[in-house]
Amino acid sequence: MEALVDIQNLHLDMVTLDGVAHVLNGVNLTIHRGDLVGLVGETGCGKSLTAMSIPQLTPKPPARYVEGRVYFRGENVLDKSETELRYLRAHHIGVIFQDPMTGLNPVFTIEQQMVDAILSREDAISATYWGLKWLPSNCERRRRARERAIALLRRVGIPEPERRIHSYPHEFSGGMRQRVLIAMAIAGRPDLLIADEPTTALDVSVQAQILRLIAELVREIQLTVLLITHNIGVVAQLCNRIAVMYAGAIVEEGPVRRVLRAPFHPYTQGLLKAIPTETTPKGKLQGVPGSVPNLYSPPPGCRFAPRCAYARSVCTLQQPPMTTIDEDHHVACILYREDHPGSL
Ligand SMILES: Nc1ncnc2c1ncn2[C@@H]1O[C@H](COP(=O)(O)OP(=O)(O)OP(=O)(O)O)[C@@H](O)[C@H]1O
Ligand code: SF4
Ligand SMILES: [Mg+2]
Repeated sequence: MEALVDIQNLHLDMVTLDGVAHVLNGVNLTIHRGDLVGLVGETGCGKSLTAMSIPQLTPKPPARYVEGRVYFRGENVLDKSETELRYLRAHHIGVIFQDPMTGLNPVFTIEQQMVDAILSREDAISATYWGLKWLPSNCERRRRARERAIALLRRVGIPEPERRIHSYPHEFSGGMRQRVLIAMAIAGRPDLLIADEPTTALDVSVQAQILRLIAELVREIQLTVLLITHNIGVVAQLCNRIAVMYAGAIVEEGPVRRVLRAPFHPYTQGLLKAIPTETTPKGKLQGVPGSVPNLYSPPPGCRFAPRCAYARSVCTLQQPPMTTIDEDHHVACILYREDHPGSL
């Protein structure tokens, strides 16, 4: 089966006044149609930049792609023109951001923002098919876009959408604003939905409702989802696959249940030990000792070595490549390489 997303050996630098940060360091990630992939890892490890590389929403500058390919539906997005990327974003990839306020403009009503988003999506599609820069924005087009916006709001659970569409964002709760953003993200019936911490800013009960909504939409419109979160419980609840990221690379990837039951990478093992369970004795919670490396001058070889209890001198020689543990479970650690004398 052809992968919907296939990120291969992606290297990305951030060129800043402080120097060059080597942020993505050979990311490999494959997402098949119908997958719900949870991307987890400590703050600053490159989750958002990895995900935003698919629709090319990384800020350039300071971002600079150094090496690698990002295939979406079999085509490398790094080779695409801005018009082609606009079409891709309009038609194939929906994005939900962490903070519902950043996605909505406080000075325009929900109607103005949704109608404009739907019309500009149509413009992007017509630019690709017919070479038109924009279609005339006549009353009939706006009326149809408004009807679609109301239908979308109804679908994502906004009560009385005909009336509420005239509201400003501040008149909606955080959960309702996030529902509006989900409605906008699915307006183009995308193949892929990227949800970058979609529930972090919300109350626990509202988080559960939003996750339920995403799960319903996945079934209804056959969405493939890349979900970024710090909450492994959310991944366990919603996703079928998990990718664990550390300092710019995916270090373990596989089926959620198998990875959570028997993690192979020392970093994944540490992450899971940091989650409290009912049986964890008080004060006995273990985490990953140490802190994330400085990406302006990262350690050589395996970037996890300075924090790893199993590290040996060979770990600092080269970045460990992905090893396949069993058909669809992969880990980037020298301990699992058969050709390595100290392998387990
Ligand atoms: N616009 C920017 N300018 C400079 N550095 C940046 C910029 N955006 C991200 N970075 C750096 O790139 C690294 C990866 O950022 P990214 O946002 O992908 O991390 P993340 O894993 O999504 O973190 P979080 O969980 O906090 O959202 C971080 O060290 C961050 O400081
Ligand atoms: S490659 Fe070495 S340092 Fe890196 S996680 Fe494996 S054992 Fe630890
Ligand atoms: Mg992020």
